[in-house]
Amino acid sequence: MGLLIHFLFLFLCLFQSILCQAKEFISIDCGGTRNYTDPSTGLAWISDTGILSHGKSVEVENSNGDLLQYQRRRDFPIDSKKYCYTLSTKERRRVYVKEMIIRAPSNFIDVCLCCATTGSPFISTLELRPLNLSMYATDFEDSFYLKVAARVNFGAPSKEAIRYPDDPYDRIWDSDIDRRQNYLVGVAAGTERINTSKNIEIKTREYPPVKVMQTAVVGTEGMLSYRLNLEDFPAHARAYAYFAEIEDLGVNETRKFKLKQPYMPDYNNAVVNIAENANGSYTLYEPSYMNVSMDFVLSFSFVKTKDSTRGPLLNAIEISKYVEIASKTDQQDVNVLNALRSLLAEIVLTSGGDPCVPAHWEWVTCSPTMPPRITKIVLSGKNMNSKIPSELKSMEGLTELWLDSNSLTGPIPEMNNLVNLKIVHLENNRLTGPLPSYLGSLPSLRELYVQNNSLSGEIPPALLTGNIIFNYEGNPGLSQGAKHKARYKLILGISAGVLAILFVLFLGSLLLLCNLRTKTSFKKIDDKGDSLRTSNKPSTAYSIARGGHLMDEGGAYNIPLFDIEEATNNFSKKIGKGSFGPVYYGKMKDGKEVAVKIMADSSSHGTQQFVTEVALLSRIHHRNLVPLIGYCEEEYQRMLVYEYMHNGTLRDHINDSANQKHIDWVARLYIAEDAAKGLEYLHTGCNPSIIHRDVKTSNILLDINMRAKVSDFGLSRQAEEDLTHISSVARGTVGYLDPE
Ligand SMILES: *[C@@H]1O[C@H](CO)[C@@H](O)[C@H](O)[C@H]1NC(C)=O
Ligand SMILES: *[C@@H]1O[C@H](CO)[C@@H](O)[C@H](O)[C@H]1NC(C)=O
Ligand SMILES: *[C@@H]1O[C@H](CO)[C@@H](O)[C@H](O)[C@H]1NC(C)=O
Ligand SMILES: *[C@@H]1O[C@H](CO)[C@@H](O)[C@H](O)[C@H]1NC(C)=O
Ligand SMILES: *[C@@H]1O[C@H](CO)[C@@H](O)[C@H](O)[C@H]1NC(C)=O
Ligand SMILES: *[C@@H]1O[C@H](CO)[C@@H](O)[C@H](O)[C@H]1NC(C)=O
Ligand SMILES: *[C@@H]1O[C@H](CO)[C@@H](O)[C@H](O)[C@H]1NC(C)=O
Repeated sequence: MGLLIHFLFLFLCLFQSILCQAKEFISIDCGGTRNYTDPSTGLAWISDTGILSHGKSVEVENSNGDLLQYQRRRDFPIDSKKYCYTLSTKERRRVYVKEMIIRAPSNFIDVCLCCATTGSPFISTLELRPLNLSMYATDFEDSFYLKVAARVNFGAPSKEAIRYPDDPYDRIWDSDIDRRQNYLVGVAAGTERINTSKNIEIKTREYPPVKVMQTAVVGTEGMLSYRLNLEDFPAHARAYAYFAEIEDLGVNETRKFKLKQPYMPDYNNAVVNIAENANGSYTLYEPSYMNVSMDFVLSFSFVKTKDSTRGPLLNAIEISKYVEIASKTDQQDVNVLNALRSLLAEIVLTSGGDPCVPAHWEWVTCSPTMPPRITKIVLSGKNMNSKIPSELKSMEGLTELWLDSNSLTGPIPEMNNLVNLKIVHLENNRLTGPLPSYLGSLPSLRELYVQNNSLSGEIPPALLTGNIIFNYEGNPGLSQGAKHKARYKLILGISAGVLAILFVLFLGSLLLLCNLRTKTSFKKIDDKGDSLRTSNKPSTAYSIARGGHLMDEGGAYNIPLFDIEEATNNFSKKIGKGSFGPVYYGKMKDGKEVAVKIMADSSSHGTQQFVTEVALLSRIHHRNLVPLIGYCEEEYQRMLVYEYMHNGTLRDHINDSANQKHIDWVARLYIAEDAAKGLEYLHTGCNPSIIHRDVKTSNILLDINMRAKVSDFGLSRQAEEDLTHISSVARGTVGYLDPE
């Protein structure tokens, strides 16, 4: 249950021993509290405590039976920042990230979680595995990485996946038996599982583990067929088939077969004759497609040729999707930031990954161009005590530079081609040398602060014309032309406040992955129950709720009855009738349209329970669930305030087609899918799970784009894990009761 993301990478070993490979593995137990060796694999796991200071370590509930590395996880805040792990590797080496194979862009890789909009992102383990030489090389690896969609070991001895140490690269070879429901279907009659204990010669390119090659399936009736779903497809894919003859064929016997499905003209006519292709039995033959287009549902079959005495055989397959590497910040700018970062002792994680994409680091501002350029650097008061990097001059997009209140030494570097530079803060450092004359001719310069340094020499006259704000107090060595004296006094009066802007360190590299799962913790909600009741903070909560599905810890807030009366114009526009009372249209002060649901049945729940439920509901956020904005509990009235859905209920559209937009079959399909996703989230994405118990067309609302959101799940109460609270009373509308 606590397993979220795990990442694996792989690279190349300079030596040939298998042991060497494992030495380069990096296995991080995210949220773990200690370092240890996994007794089953012998792999060393390290805790991320010293690596990551953000987020918090959380114990995964009911994880007693799980491996040690899955017993704790790290939860991250919900915000637009990036939280990154930096893992060292070797440049250009191919690495494999749980479902990903990527060529290392430099000698480290950042794995970042970012931009959570719902729930709290968390990570359980992070594993980096180096691959050997050309393994998984593709023609497209400069701009695409591979995301593994299926890696199946056919004829597997058990349900367990095969990994390290059987696979020295620790790839995960899923078993073809019953891995998950409906994983592999459409299996042809006569399919049999075979195995051998003989060694298999696997020295082709991908070096699949011998153990995986020692098992296979054969189509004893002449055909092998399978159907499986490929996550995130249709897409272009890299696909491999692994064949090794592991039966001893008689002298007159042959095994020849063709790919029949999917139909690919280039490949379908090719006859596979494993022993011939591989030049011998017990030797791997590994044909592959470099770039093949595949659908979400992959059906494939191999059929024996007429002159073959044996049916087709298959040991394993591997299918990976090509995923484009996100566009990156201008490389020159990244180099400068790297130079700056190297001056800093602090290591702060929000500076991982690309400086601008998809979320920018806290201490830089980026232009909206493609590729993004850096427009502002704020490194005030960071204890930097070296020279200002000369690379700065290539940052042509820069408009503001804040390097004040450090202990920077040396001269002010060349920056004469930074034609966009407007504001420069270099004050309170230990800079020496002259004020370069180019400063007087930077076309955009408006403010220049160099006070409290050890600069010397003559001030370029152009700086003293009064056209720019220029402060150079506290530099005893600086002198100026006589005619400008009067003016500079004026300018001195302007003081520069010391900025206290948070800043962080980074290593410029590639954002690998941003993969979030959500989980709502019931315990947290309980803690909040009381404070929620009394908290009354409309202004912030409006802005929080405005995003539709973005929520912070505060959840729904208490809206005063007065505000609701005003928004609904004293409950003048009734738009429906819920199972608990009427529903009114309203418009809040900030223009947000809402639906106010009156809870007529105020006796059934105690106040505390109402507030607790509201707190819970307001934390549940999903694209296909109607967002709860707030609640009101005053003068024995209880109301829930939801986001207004412009296209009403699905029931209206289906039953009253005269007044409503016609919904075509495609739209209906979308609606069904949306509603199912909403329900699935209630069942599996929430903890504790929520059973709706009143699913019907009038509880499926349509937004302005005719996409569906499930409503009224608040009435259903949680499917308590705690048996003492089981609520088995039927609820909802007769005729629509959930089987549960
Ligand atoms: C775990 O090992 C890492 C790397 O060897 C080390 O930096 C860290 O201090 C260790 N952490 C603990 C909790 O022992
Ligand atoms: C890794 O590559 C080396 C050099 O080509 C090769 O000799 C070695 O067998 C490979 N290691 C494995 C485990 O396949
Ligand atoms: C290998 O095949 C034999 C029968 O052919 C079977 O009894 C045995 O369980 C198989 N072993 C494995 C590991 O699948
Ligand atoms: C694969 O082939 C398609 C069409 O032939 C092409 O558009 C695409 O760029 C190729 N490469 C990848 C990585 O998708
Ligand atoms: C192979 O085929 C030939 C001719 O069809 C036959 O004479 C011979 O007995 C066969 N050998 C075996 C081992 O089956
Ligand atoms: C095929 O294998 C045989 C012996 O098993 C060997 O003599 C021959 O050179 C191999 N052919 C190729 C092309 O590798
Ligand atoms: C210069 O430094 C001194 C002492 O650090 C400080 O009090 C003063 O405000 C600084 N002057 C300016 C102009 O920043």
